[in-house]
This record gives sequence, C-alpha cells and structure tokens, in this order.
Amino acid sequence: MARYLITGGCGFIGLHLTAALLQAGHSATVLDDLSSGNPAKLPAAARLEEGCVTDAGTLARLAEGVDGVIHLAAIASIAAAEANPERAHAVNAGGAANAVAAATRSRIPLVLISSAAVYGDAGPGAVSEAYPCRPLSAYGADKLQGEQYALKAAENGLSATIVRPFNVYGPGQDASSPYAGVISRFIAAALSGDPLRVNGDGSQSRDFIYIDDLVRLLIAAISQPRPGAVIVNGCTGIATSVRELALKIRHLCGGDIRIEPGPGRSSGVAHSLGDPRRAAEQFGFRAEVALADGLQRTLAWQRGTDLQ
Ligand SMILES: NC(=O)c1ccc[n+]([C@@H]2O[C@H](COP(=O)([O-])OP(=O)(O)OC[C@H]3O[C@@H](n4cnc5c(N)ncnc54)[C@H](O)[C@@H]3O)[C@@H](O)[C@H]2O)c1
Repeated sequence: MARYLITGGCGFIGLHLTAALLQAGHSATVLDDLSSGNPAKLPAAARLEEGCVTDAGTLARLAEGVDGVIHLAAIASIAAAEANPERAHAVNAGGAANAVAAATRSRIPLVLISSAAVYGDAGPGAVSEAYPCRPLSAYGADKLQGEQYALKAAENGLSATIVRPFNVYGPGQDASSPYAGVISRFIAAALSGDPLRVNGDGSQSRDFIYIDDLVRLLIAAISQPRPGAVIVNGCTGIATSVRELALKIRHLCGGDIRIEPGPGRSSGVAHSLGDPRRAAEQFGFRAEVALADGLQRTLAWQRGTDLQ
C-alpha cells in the first residue's frame, strides 16, 4: 500500500483516479481548489485539502507525507485557459513548477499530466513523443513549460513520468460546462433531442481514450517509477473523425437525431492522433475499451443509469 497526493483530484480524471487508487488499497490525499471539481463525488476514504497549486508551500507540505504525486490540477481546456490567460498560466505552468519542486524536495516520484495540445497540429499521422512540439494555444504552451520543469528536475534526481493524454471521455465528464468535450456535448444534445452540431466538414479527427484506460496508465506510471524522465502519450492510436463520432452517437441513441453544421472551432488542430507504442514499451499499457463500448457506458451514465 502506498500513499499518494493527487492534485486536481475532484475533477473528471482525478475522481476516477482517486477511486481506483483507493480500490487498489492505497491511500489518497487530494489537493483541489474546487474551481471546477466536485468534492461531493470524492470517495469518503480520500482526504481532501482545499487549496491551490499556485501555493508552493501547501504542495511542499503535502508531498512530505506521501510516496508519490500525481499532478492533474489545471485550468483544463483550451477555451477556459483563453478566457483568463494570466490565471491559466499561473495555474498550468506555475502549478506544474510547484509540483515538480515538491516532489524533488521530498525525493518521491511525480506523474505530471500534460496534454496532446503540446504537439499543435501534427497532421493526420500518429505522433510519437519525439515529434517536435509546436503548441497552437497558450494552454498547450503552458503544459509544455510544465514538462520542461520536470525534465530539468529529472536531470537532478527527480523520477518523472510525463503523460500526454489525448481526448479523454467517459462517465463523470461535465456535459453542462461551456468547455465540455465533444462526446459529452453530443450525447447531451442527442438525449435532449437536439441536433448534433458538427463544426466544419466534420473531417477533423481525434484520438478518444476512455477514462478507465487513462487511469490504468496513470497508476502504472506512478507505481513503476523510472530513473530520470519519461514522456508517454495517453492514447489509443485510433483516429475518429467528428462526423463519424456524431453518426456513432446517433446510432447508439436511436431516434431521429439531426446532424447539422456547427459554427467552426478556433483551436486550429485539424487532426490529433497519438502513437501508443512508447506507453506499451515502458508500462505494458494498451488501451482496451473500444470506442463503441466507451460511448455506450458514457451514454448510460448520462442517461442517469450508470451501468458500471
Ligand atoms: N480531459 C481531457 O480530455 C484531458 C486531455 C488532456 C489533458 N488533460 C489534463 O488532465 C488534467 C485533468 O483534467 P480533467 O479533464 O479532469 O479536468 P477537470 O477540470 O475536470 O479537473 C481539474 C481539477 O483541477 C482543479 N483545479 C483547477 N485549478 C486548480 C488550482 N489552481 N489548484 C488546485 N486545484 C485546481 C479543479 O477544481 C478540478 O477539480 C488537466 O491537467 C488537463 O489539462 C485532460
């Protein structure tokens, strides 16, 4: 049994991760400022510390009593970060710097959650971790800066795994947020009988990874720390166009759901597809949940009938 500190543990990924760590017999301390997270959903066995990752002292104190840190806390969408760039920079880059410093000081491993947004628009092929990073958003640039703090500290003894998740989806993702991901938005629209709005011609594609798969990767990473730093994609290696996604969701939901053109999107990334090989080599990780199954589980949850 190990003790872990999870920043952002009241958010979508953090709640699943915390529950899975507790389930596996570990103990979990969560640091969250509750700016978007929901403490009511945190398992009772987790200890919640309400605070901000921009507070280096709090992070350092909490890291003293644990065996590893998983740093998830962020202003977690490109659009949300654009709405308040100064705050987003302080949280996304500054919070990562503080998590790196806390783990380094306590000599414990760190799993730092970055993002596929660091790649920018890499074209339709699968991007490996060696692909040059040219983020198109301030969010992606801040995530890349966070990675650089970890890489630098790893030269001086920190064990750091940097995970770059692609598009994570699943039960618990907030469809009512203005920053909701495309899957939860489409399912919410379909369940309300509204049209599914597909931006552009719908050929833009994404690598959708189911939440349970990503959580398995994060747990593998924190429980098998490597000397120095390793960067891995959190992805499936399978691209799905947004139009294909809309058709799948219409099929699953049944009924007479219209698919309509939407207003377009500003992030500029036409294709986002990860190469999953390094995560397989390093941690024996492979995504297991097929999109059709993951969509079914997400739909069941959004319908209010969680089948999990
Ligand atoms: N969901 C995805 O598809 C995806 C893809 C790539 C990367 N990520 C990254 O994964 C991480 C988690 O994303 P998520 O989808 O669970 O987002 P989320 O918004 O659901 O969760 C983020 C959590 O961090 C907390 N938080 C925000 N600012 C904080 C601060 N200053 N101090 C302490 N806590 C703070 C929020 O209250 C929330 O509980 C983020 O780093 C995000 O950038 C997510």
